[in-house]
Amino acid sequence: MIIAIDGPAGSGKSTTAKLVGSKMNFLYIDTGAMYRAMTVKAELAGVPFDDRAGVCSLLDDTVIEQTIDTKSGDTRTYLDGRDVSYEIRTPEISKGVTSVCEIDEVRVKLVSLQREMGKKGNVILDGRDIGTVVFPDADLKFFMVADINIRAERRLAELKEKGIALTFEDVRNDIERRDLRDSSRSNSPLRPAQDAVLIDTGGLTVEEQAEIIIGYIKKKL
Ligand code: CDP
Repeated sequence: MIIAIDGPAGSGKSTTAKLVGSKMNFLYIDTGAMYRAMTVKAELAGVPFDDRAGVCSLLDDTVIEQTIDTKSGDTRTYLDGRDVSYEIRTPEISKGVTSVCEIDEVRVKLVSLQREMGKKGNVILDGRDIGTVVFPDADLKFFMVADINIRAERRLAELKEKGIALTFEDVRNDIERRDLRDSSRSNSPLRPAQDAVLIDTGGLTVEEQAEIIIGYIKKKL
């Protein structure tokens, strides 16, 4: 079974998908982390994030992998064999990922990797284009939304926990900027699939969000 969760930044996709994954024994795949890892690759190589030819020249020599930390249930993301789970969350990478993920060749490579990972059995993936492009035939599709201030608060708390100190304004601005770029780009824009279930997570706990999705999964099983 393939479960697709899309939505804007901070809407609760990854925390919910992670919890559903661990409760239902589904493999959780964080596709945003892959675009972020490619952005780290460009940064390490000294290639500007909007240099399409430069970023493309790195693609063949890039290995991105993801595993689940069995203790915490968190995903770990590896770039060329090195754990970059911390680096991918820094403000510099959050800023750069918007440009790197707009490069068609980057999307082709990562979408193909995501489809390969989807063959591993029961999987739950979160991103921007999972229900529309990566797995248009997914068994279940969800689109999560929430008020911008709630999303910014959540993200601020998450970053603080990871040791990344930013102001509420910084976080809110980053989210607004990325949402706008993600929704308006021509390749695989952020938008709900026609058959996606809309979930407003504003007034819900992570447990409640997970239970909604698990309810749909159980009906399908
Ligand atoms: O968790 P957050 O909402 O901050 O974003 P993310 O899932 O880590 O994704 C980071 C960025 O990668 C997004 O803002 C998108 O620009 C891009 N992305 C994408 O284009 N397609 C995906 N399937 C996932 C992420």
